[in-house]
Amino acid sequence: MAQQEDVFKKLVSHCKEYGFVFPSSEIYDGLGAVYDYGQNGVELKNNIKKYWWDSMTLMNENVVGIDSAIFMHPTIWKASGHVDAFNDPLIDNKDSKKRYRADVLIEEQIAKFEDKINKETEKAAKRFGDAFDEKQFRETNPRVLENQAKIDELHARFAKALNDNDLADLRQIILDYEIVCPVSGTRNWTEVRQFNLMFATEMGSTADGALKVYLRPETAQGIFVNFLNVQKSGRMKIPFGIAQIGKAFRNEIVARQFIFRMREFEQMEMQFFVRPGEELEWFAKWKETRLKWHKALGLGDTKYRYHDHEKLAHYANAATDIEFEMPFGFKEVEGIHSRTDFDLSSHEQYSGKKIQYFDPELNKSYVPYVIETSIGVDRMFLSIMAGSYCEETLEGGDIRVVLKLPPALAPVKLAVLPLVKKDGLPEKAREIMDNLKFNFNCQYDEKDTVGKRYRRQDAIGTPYCVTVDYDSLNDNCVTIRYRDTMEQERVPVAELENIISDKVSMKNLLKQIAKL
Ligand code: GAP
Repeated sequence: MAQQEDVFKKLVSHCKEYGFVFPSSEIYDGLGAVYDYGQNGVELKNNIKKYWWDSMTLMNENVVGIDSAIFMHPTIWKASGHVDAFNDPLIDNKDSKKRYRADVLIEEQIAKFEDKINKETEKAAKRFGDAFDEKQFRETNPRVLENQAKIDELHARFAKALNDNDLADLRQIILDYEIVCPVSGTRNWTEVRQFNLMFATEMGSTADGALKVYLRPETAQGIFVNFLNVQKSGRMKIPFGIAQIGKAFRNEIVARQFIFRMREFEQMEMQFFVRPGEELEWFAKWKETRLKWHKALGLGDTKYRYHDHEKLAHYANAATDIEFEMPFGFKEVEGIHSRTDFDLSSHEQYSGKKIQYFDPELNKSYVPYVIETSIGVDRMFLSIMAGSYCEETLEGGDIRVVLKLPPALAPVKLAVLPLVKKDGLPEKAREIMDNLKFNFNCQYDEKDTVGKRYRRQDAIGTPYCVTVDYDSLNDNCVTIRYRDTMEQERVPVAELENIISDKVSMKNLLKQIAKL
């Protein structure tokens, strides 16, 4: 575990050192859980977005995109349930003055019991060696059973308190289980209060009549309220989907783990409108399609898993997460939800406008059901960085840090390196760049030894480097060096476009999804 934390720390500093992610407002000591993307980060982020957008809108002729405003009519958030129910239960420690999410404190207590079980099991595994039967041990060992009983009891009470919105009992659980503040070490807790996660501001003059508006906490509502606009103007027939990429804002209390949980972040959401009764079939289809989209990146199939929700939101009849193995464990990157007709019906009710679809085949009108796929760009970014970051020990003991990014997503596809800064080699290198720069992102670098230049490109995940030497001036060939294998070969300049375009093309990555 400590080793994984170490990897995570290294990844965070790598992101800063190589221009991927910077803390926001850093010269003013930063702003909590807000980050900026640097020169390489923005390229990677844009490539992720393009991969998602094209997979939705090019690969599905019945999915179209929109770009709705961040500000929306405040009643939308009443209809969606965010004004009344988008809350976190908070508790303060009176001694340290630190604020915590009550549910997180309790979840951490459950994790402590789980830890005890795991330690007990590890100890036994060492003691018994090959003869160890883990399943039997977990089912019979008294200490394991005792801790499991504590987990079950706490879990049941916690779930009930959350479901009943019983804030007094959430506090009582914290007291009964003697949960202490990690900073002061005391149990001097305040009451538990609900805290709404939406950021609010005012639109118009601050005198009478200013309208309280919210920064959207999800992009999905912009799709729902445009359902009829898109359906009518695009003559869309059910089933069809609307995709959107955009910023979302949440006043997260426990904001941590770098860009995993941010206050300003970006979502890629698609709402797929279907006939009532057909939603679970479409849910299964999108669940499968979205996992293929992840796996096509080639970071390793075992790094993903589904987490089906047992406890569903009141408006959902199925939900699953796609989790990725981050350095801090398997974590949600994407959610796929069968949201029934909750959102459209609610907007019908609050707006007083009919939001229905006339189905010519069934010869009747209905409120469509919705399957949602919702993924965070920043979490996806983090998963790709975590899945690509490698430290390799080379012959001679040097460590090479390399980002094995999927080539189609890499910020720079090709680095062009003249062996020396004279004798016409820079000019030859520039000529190669000028020919290729219309195809993909190229970078010119003439500073330091070629070895150091290779390392710099490895660190930002550039899949190809070519070195221009004295022979290049005569034979019009260069040495191409492959990032992952570090192999080098001599190739004619005229072939570079073919060799590289094929490997870095978004088209081929998209085709990979269809092959899975
Ligand atoms: N419209 C559904 C919705 O917003 P969600 O599970 O709250 O569902 C969807 O969010 C995705 O958005 C998550 O799977 C995650 O990738 C991303 N996300 C949510 N909150 C985030 C945060 N505070 N920081 C970064 N990404 C976040």
